Amino acid sequence: MEVSLQVNGERHVVAVPPHRRLLDVLRDDLELLGSKLACGEGACGACAVLLDGRPVNACLLLAAAAEGHAIVTIEGLSRGRAAAVLEAFVVEDALQCGYCTPGQVVSATALLERVARPTRDEIRQAMAGNLCRCGAYPKIERAILRAAAGA
Ligand code: FES
Ligand code: FES
Repeated sequence: MEVSLQVNGERHVVAVPPHRRLLDVLRDDLELLGSKLACGEGACGACAVLLDGRPVNACLLLAAAAEGHAIVTIEGLSRGRAAAVLEAFVVEDALQCGYCTPGQVVSATALLERVARPTRDEIRQAMAGNLCRCGAYPKIERAILRAAAGA
């Protein structure tokens, strides 16, 4: 089947089997490698992308189901709140191996779009679906607070 996807403001028409995941289309067909495959079953958030501004796990979403929605990957996040989040992650050194970082930035950006000055509890709740095997959680939290303070 043919699926028309709007990714980072550009339209892409891809031929995919009905069961193909959005994450695989992004990484393999569109060569957008920022979204990571880790658990592959919706448990870690490494594959998070924005779908109409809300974070979703691209490993759980069929590409066909994303048709008609605005998809933004980490490659499309560079302005506004996303820029503040990216800068804050660097300043706070909020990563170790970096594998979880794209998903963390996607979820943090979505949070700050929704809640300009989140509390620590709100941050923990919003970021609960993003796991970090390196345990960078305290620095990630500080980065989000920093990004919010600078907004
Ligand atoms: S790879 Fe999608 S949630 Fe873990
Ligand atoms: S920085 Fe390594 S998994 Fe988070």
